Amino acid sequence: MSMTEIIKEKYKKKLISVDDALKLVKSDTEVITALAAAEAKLFLRGLEKLKGKVRNVSVYTCLPMENYKFFTDPEMEGTFYHNGWFYTGPIRNAPPSINSFVPNHLHMAGTDRLLNRKPHIFVGTATPPDKFGYMSLSLSATYEVDMVENADIVILEVNEKYPRTFGDVIIHIDQVHHIIEADYEPPQLPIAPVSEEDKKIAEAIFEHLEDGITLQLGIGGMPNAVGKMLLKLKDIGIHTEMLTEGMMELFEAGVINGRRKTLYPNKMVCTFALGSRKLYDFIHENPGVVINRGRWVNNPYVIAQNYKQISINSALEIDLTGQVCSESIGPDQFSGTGGQADTAIGAQMSQGGKSFICLYSTANVKDKDGNRKTISKVVPMLKEGAKVTLHRANVDYVVTEYGCVRIKGLSVRERVKKLISIAHPDFRDYLTEEAKRLRYI
Ligand code: COA
Repeated sequence: MSMTEIIKEKYKKKLISVDDALKLVKSDTEVITALAAAEAKLFLRGLEKLKGKVRNVSVYTCLPMENYKFFTDPEMEGTFYHNGWFYTGPIRNAPPSINSFVPNHLHMAGTDRLLNRKPHIFVGTATPPDKFGYMSLSLSATYEVDMVENADIVILEVNEKYPRTFGDVIIHIDQVHHIIEADYEPPQLPIAPVSEEDKKIAEAIFEHLEDGITLQLGIGGMPNAVGKMLLKLKDIGIHTEMLTEGMMELFEAGVINGRRKTLYPNKMVCTFALGSRKLYDFIHENPGVVINRGRWVNNPYVIAQNYKQISINSALEIDLTGQVCSESIGPDQFSGTGGQADTAIGAQMSQGGKSFICLYSTANVKDKDGNRKTISKVVPMLKEGAKVTLHRANVDYVVTEYGCVRIKGLSVRERVKKLISIAHPDFRDYLTEEAKRLRYI
C-alpha cells in the first residue's frame, strides 16, 4: 500500500458518528473542548442528548461561540457541570448552578489544567490529513495540543471548510482516536464598528508607536481602530494571542512584514485566530502565519524576546490607584483574564516595549430598575466583587478618549492626578473628592 492509501485506511477506521462519540462520555469524567472557532459544534450540540443518562460530567470550554444547552439549560444539573476559561455572551446569563469560571492566565490554561487532572476526552476540530497523515488543528493551539497529548480519548471533527494552518497546530492522525466528519462553516466574529471615541484613543496611542514595533492587539472594539492607525507605519511585526482581521489588512497593505522582529522574523505569530471567512482564507496554507502553543506564545518571557513589543488591551474599569478590571462587572464574570496580564507584562519586559490599557471614559449601563445611566469607568474603587485582571504594579500606559497617561512607577498620589486627567470631565470633581475621602491625596 502507498503512504496515501495507508492514511486513507487509518482515516476510515477512525470514523464514527456523533452518537457513537457521545457514548464515550462517562459519568464522573471530564471533557475538554477546543477554543472559540475551533470548538467541535456537532459534539457540543449533541451533549444535551445525554441529559439524565450520565452523571457529573465536567465540560471545559474557552470562548464558546454558541448557546449550547449543556450550559444554558438548568435541567442539565446533575448531568453536566460547565467550567469556563473565558466567558462569552451565551454563558453570562446561564445558570450559576451548572456554570463556574476557572481563573487562569491564558498561557497557563492548559498546563494548570493538566497539573490538576488528566482529561478523559478532548474534542476539537481539524483539517483532513495530508498524504503523510498530518492534520492541522486549524484555528487554535492555545491549549489544544497539550490536551491531544494528554487526553485518554481524542475526538476531532474533521472539516474541509477549516483553514489548514501551520505551527504547533500540526498533529498526526496516529494521535487521534476518533474522527467525526463535519461540514459546517467555522464560527466568525463580526468586525466591531469603530466609534469616534475609538479613533481618539487610537490617536492617543499612535503618538507612542514607531516603525519596526511588534504588536499584540486584544479582544474588543478598540483594537480595530488602532489597527487602522497603523497604516501610517512600516515594518510592523506580529506576536499576538489572537490573530485578527485588522492584522490581515495591515499585511495586505504591506505594513506588516515582520522584517525587524527579533523573534520569528518575517512570521506572524499567534495562538488562535478568530474573524471572518476572509481571515480564514488568508491563513489557509499561509507559511507566514505560525499558530503555536499558548504556553509558548503568551509566556511573558517569550513575548519579551521581541524588541519593542507593544501590547494593546481593553478594560471595563480602572480604580484611582491603577487596578484594572477587564473581566467582570462587579461579581458577574463577563469575559476572562485571557492573555491580558501575559501580554502586558511580556511587553514591559521587552526592550523598548510598552503596554496600553484602553477604556472609554464612561459606560452607559442599566441600573437595577432598568433605567439607563452614564457612569465613569475611572472609579475611586472597583465595583464590589469586581476582579482585578491586571495588578496595578503591572499597569504601564492608560488611555481614554481624553488622552494617554503613563502610571508605571508612579506613587498613588501621582496616579490619582494622571487618571483623573483622562476621566470624563463631568466626573473629575467627584473623583477628586473621593480620592481625598479615601486618603489617596
Ligand atoms: N460597568 C458596567 N458595565 C460596563 C462597564 C462598567 N465599568 N464598562 C463596560 N460595560 C458594559 C458596556 O456598556 C457593554 O455593555 P453592552 O454590551 O450592554 O453595550 C459591555 O460592558 C461591554 O463593554 P465594551 O466596552 O463594549 O467591551 P468590549 O467588547 O470592547 O470588550 C473587554 C472589552 C474588556 C470586556 C475585553 O477586552 C476583555 O474581555 N478583555 C479581557 C481579556 C483580554 O484583554 N485579553 C487580551 C488578549 S486577547
